[in-house]
Amino acid sequence: MPRSLHRELPPSDLLHTEFGCRIDPSRRGPNNDYGNRDKNGPSRQSKGRRKICSRKAARGSTLNSQRCKPETFAPGIAILALLEQHLISMKIAIIGSGYVGLVTGACFAEVGHEVICIDNDERKVKALRRGRIPIYEPGLDQLVQRNVSAHRLSFTGSIEEGVDNSQVIFIAVPTPPQVDGSVDLTYIERVAREIASVLKEYRVIVDKSTVPVKTGEKVAHTIRRYNKVNVEFDVVSNPEFLREGCAVADLMEPDRIVIGSNSERALAIMKKVYEPFMAPIMVTDINSAELIKHAANSFLALKISYINAVSGICEASGADIEKVADGIGADKRIGRSFLNAGLGYGGSCFPKDIAAFISISEQIGEPFPLLKEVQRINQHQRDRFVKRLRDTLWVLKEKRIAVWGLTFKPDTDDVRSSVAVDIVNDLIREGAHVTAYDPKGNERVKELNLCPGVHLAASALEAVRDAETLVLATEWPDFAAIDLAEVHRRMQTPIVFDGRNLFDPDMMRDLGFQYYPVGRPPTKANIVAGFQTSSLASKLEAVQGRPGGNTTTGSAKEVAKI
Ligand SMILES: NC(=O)c1ccc[n+]([C@@H]2O[C@H](COP(=O)([O-])OP(=O)(O)OC[C@H]3O[C@@H](n4cnc5c(N)ncnc54)[C@H](O)[C@@H]3O)[C@@H](O)[C@H]2O)c1
Repeated sequence: MPRSLHRELPPSDLLHTEFGCRIDPSRRGPNNDYGNRDKNGPSRQSKGRRKICSRKAARGSTLNSQRCKPETFAPGIAILALLEQHLISMKIAIIGSGYVGLVTGACFAEVGHEVICIDNDERKVKALRRGRIPIYEPGLDQLVQRNVSAHRLSFTGSIEEGVDNSQVIFIAVPTPPQVDGSVDLTYIERVAREIASVLKEYRVIVDKSTVPVKTGEKVAHTIRRYNKVNVEFDVVSNPEFLREGCAVADLMEPDRIVIGSNSERALAIMKKVYEPFMAPIMVTDINSAELIKHAANSFLALKISYINAVSGICEASGADIEKVADGIGADKRIGRSFLNAGLGYGGSCFPKDIAAFISISEQIGEPFPLLKEVQRINQHQRDRFVKRLRDTLWVLKEKRIAVWGLTFKPDTDDVRSSVAVDIVNDLIREGAHVTAYDPKGNERVKELNLCPGVHLAASALEAVRDAETLVLATEWPDFAAIDLAEVHRRMQTPIVFDGRNLFDPDMMRDLGFQYYPVGRPPTKANIVAGFQTSSLASKLEAVQGRPGGNTTTGSAKEVAKI
């Protein structure tokens, strides 16, 4: 039976949350949070500021990276006025229940909408119906559980069921790259045809997948062509800016919501969908909205490649990239975020979106060669890292190398286009014996056979047993908090290549490591390990008021402060 398309909730059900959203108080988790704020101390309401991700808190503010940032929050009169209004619950369908679709669906349900998540992967739908979340994203499992129990979130394999019972249909299917860098739009086209074949009355069809400019026009054209009954509909572009690892927080409190629409009717509906999030809404035409997403990701990649190019100059001149980045980033016109030297960008978005933007710009006759340089620097950064490893170890063949990290960034299980995976494969190709460990990525790498020949360890400490070198490839907080003295004891030769500048160079030197960060001078051990380990432990005890034993647990930065 079709659902009624509107459900009014009384204002007494509403609560203004730390995420700036209006939600029903009964929907919050036991800790009144969305999963990844709990490690960050007091709520931003009491502090006036917030920190979304745990990683930054664990690592300290100088442990930069392309990560979640603190933001100011100032509830105003507009919020109070909105609180007096009734929340209108919308009926929403989301086609594609992956990293974007599932998190978006859960967050829409969390603010009171009724959401059907659709996927054509039967196993995924079955698992979701059984309460199994197929991806790792902090806070997502509780969010899904809570909203499924409250009957606001359900799963199906049928696009018809979703289209029949929803006012708004979001498309969140993959847009993978083709060999030439252009976007494979077959998933989007197929979904457009499927929607057309079951469309019986007016619906808003929203493209949330990242697509080339002018895709909205093509989606509208396809639906018109395949819909036999000439139903009215509108196509809207609503690009998604979430970051895996803090996707729930990003969706609940977006910096901005971009809505590209040429229809007042569709726009009014979209505003109702996003009203509970109380975020700035930017309305544009469809083409501009589509372009915003590719231009934003390309700009962020440009910042990463820029600082990585500077890190090469730092290495060659003996300067320290962390100090240089702090000096540059203190300029408000530039900002410190995304100025984090490392192994370069990877993942399912940046590499493909930059390639797509290059291809789109060429197709429309306005080539963008700057972005080719961004790609080149990104690849060179990784090659330079492996070369430095080779130059230091002389021969990589038969060397026992431990690699910490396989995912493309921390706090996710996503290993798509991961630089860490590429590094493992580079080392294996050179004949090294690689043992890798990742807190969430081991299974995915095994399942997809991404690193043939790698040995996957059950823990970070197991991975370093008898290793001649440790490579840190993904900056998981777990690695920052590890017992480094024990790592030192387990390694055959305590050499560490830190591809993400996670550790403090002085501490690594004091612990007896030969330490190679990115864009910073290497440090050589200057005292015997046994002596400095216990010395560090007693310093830890003095500062933290707890016995250190003969270990150096605690985050690298905590120790570094001593
Ligand atoms: N992952 C991110 O961080 C991120 C961030 C912003 C935007 N995006 C964009 O969002 C889109 C989706 O990315 P993702 O990471 O969620 O992908 P994903 O691969 O994790 O999920 C896509 C889902 O769509 C399903 N699907 C494919 N064809 C379908 C069909 N015909 N009917 C129903 N379901 C279908 C797949 O089974 C899969 O579960 C891409 O365009 C991506 O560029 C991704």
